Amino acid sequence: MQPIVKWAGGKRRFAQQISKLLGNNFNNYYEPFIGGGAILLYMEPRNAKCSDINVELINLYNIVKNHPEELIVELQKYIDKNNSHDYLQIRNIDRQPIEFSRLTEIERAARFMYLNHTCFNGIWRVNQNGQNNVPFGRYVNPKILAADEIRDVSKYFNDYNVSFEVNDYRVVANRAQAGDVVYFDPPYDVEEGQNGFVGYTASGFNQNNQRELKELCDLLVQRGVTVGISNSNTRFIRELYGNDPYNFYELHSELKVRRTIGAKSESRREVTELFIIGRLQR
Ligand SMILES: C[S@@+](CC[C@H](N)C(=O)[O-])C[C@H]1O[C@@H](n2cnc3c(N)ncnc32)[C@H](O)[C@@H]1O
Repeated sequence: MQPIVKWAGGKRRFAQQISKLLGNNFNNYYEPFIGGGAILLYMEPRNAKCSDINVELINLYNIVKNHPEELIVELQKYIDKNNSHDYLQIRNIDRQPIEFSRLTEIERAARFMYLNHTCFNGIWRVNQNGQNNVPFGRYVNPKILAADEIRDVSKYFNDYNVSFEVNDYRVVANRAQAGDVVYFDPPYDVEEGQNGFVGYTASGFNQNNQRELKELCDLLVQRGVTVGISNSNTRFIRELYGNDPYNFYELHSELKVRRTIGAKSESRREVTELFIIGRLQR
């Protein structure tokens, strides 16, 4: 299956390689930076505990799981709203706390899905006040309502034991036990002078956060958990995980990029990123 949301840093193009490296010999699957969930949906593990700090994203997954038909009906109201006027009006509801608090969870999920498919590059970015500030994307035919995909994903969530929770990655990952797998896809390290998107949350993710994540990985590996970590191919990350029990893999793919807001043409660029596996050597 494929993600139902577009997500900055989405792992769809690496899904096959990452899934092969993680293997399928584990009890529970944890993905505490779930984002678009490309690896979860590619692997379709039986017992999956998914989480993210993004409240609106996790609300969407819970609605897809528990109320797919109501979501589809609600999304039909957005089909003819792919224009900047409607977009800004719908986006800016979060500037009016009382109006926003009156939305039902299903209405919030539909709003999130609409914004995700009509905004620039599918980015979810909020300012210090938690207000979404992503510009309109000007896509010709965005797939605002993907009814079949919503139904398929919902069926997977229900047929298997897949749960979603709003939480910090440290809290959820720390529950993993020997025999489990945790796949971490954090906001990436950005080399000095390079552009990179780490603004998923108002507070960002800096090198101290990367170090803290590595310490948690050490602890989990000691416990007998297998950890997989995606990150950018920077010197800092290679040094951070440069000791046992971590193994590095360079993943390559071609990425289509639309460089500026409003640009019509896309260019292609080869991307390399790191996938790191940590497990106790038997
Ligand atoms: C690189 S994206 C994950 C992309 C995902 N693997 C995919 O394929 O779409 C990073 C995610 O981490 C989340 N995040 C950032 N800081 C977090 C934290 N402290 N705890 C949990 N999630 C966090 C962001 O909301 C974002 O969804």
